[in-house]
Amino acid sequence: MNEIKLFCPASVANVSCGFDVLGFCLEPIGDEMIIRKTSKKGIHIIKIEGQKLPLETQKNVAGVAGLALLEDYPCDHGFEIEIYKGIKAGSGIGSSAASSAGAVFGINELMGKPLNRNELIKYAMKGEELASGSAHADNVSPVLKGGFTVVRCSKTPDVISLPSPSELHATIIHPKIELRTSDARAVLKKKINLEKAVEQWGNLAALVSGLCTNDYDLIGRSLVDVVIEPHRSALIPGFKELKKAAIDSGALGCGISGSGPSVFALSRGRETALRVQEEMNNTFKKFNIEYELHLSKINSKGIQIISSK
Ligand code: HSE
Repeated sequence: MNEIKLFCPASVANVSCGFDVLGFCLEPIGDEMIIRKTSKKGIHIIKIEGQKLPLETQKNVAGVAGLALLEDYPCDHGFEIEIYKGIKAGSGIGSSAASSAGAVFGINELMGKPLNRNELIKYAMKGEELASGSAHADNVSPVLKGGFTVVRCSKTPDVISLPSPSELHATIIHPKIELRTSDARAVLKKKINLEKAVEQWGNLAALVSGLCTNDYDLIGRSLVDVVIEPHRSALIPGFKELKKAAIDSGALGCGISGSGPSVFALSRGRETALRVQEEMNNTFKKFNIEYELHLSKINSKGIQIISSK
């Protein structure tokens, strides 16, 4: 195989109570990447469409993730990468994760698959580190593995796949303002109150249990974030109103997608998710900010190969 074309999906990280550990993969939104072997050693980003992002390998998340992989798995040839961005940088739905995960996934395939999807996580995290200053795995993991994932440990990545109840639908609203993850991390306190921590990990454990047992009510009761949302919600115009609209129209829960500004709601069934989408639309159109709305089932597959030759 000399060339591979990939679909690299968007993702929702944190999922309210799981800051830096929980995430799920989306279906309809994503980037496409073409990666091909070249005689010139190293990683060469030769084209980026859809976004203004650096072509220099060391400054590009796909570039640094790919280089990290090649450092451990040296190759006597190099790789050219073309990136067709469908996910806006700074949107909160895993733009850097899609590119980082896509690069290591594609290179690994072209090298004859020395690693499995789990083992690729630590290399994809290098791209996240470049993008935000923090090597978190909560976006790259669901992009690589599909579905919901929980990061038990990110130092030596230990990532567990969780079941996705089949009726779960996500509604995403993406206000078209850029919120850099590094800025959204800068507003967070380094220490948290013990009482809040107890509440947060109770919700996280219960959310995981709800996903494992198809308990939609429990999922709804657990989609609560008492640690991060109070600080970050101020950065997102209309957040309070969007959350109220989503919950009032039947969503199980609603929160900030990753570091924002996108907001996600989870609903049981497509009909409810459509109603939630309509109400989020009615609410946000008053804010005079351009936005996009998406409806998605949980993508259980993660990155997909479109073609190869
Ligand atoms: N867990 C990360 C954060 C996701 O919330 O900062 C953003 O990439």
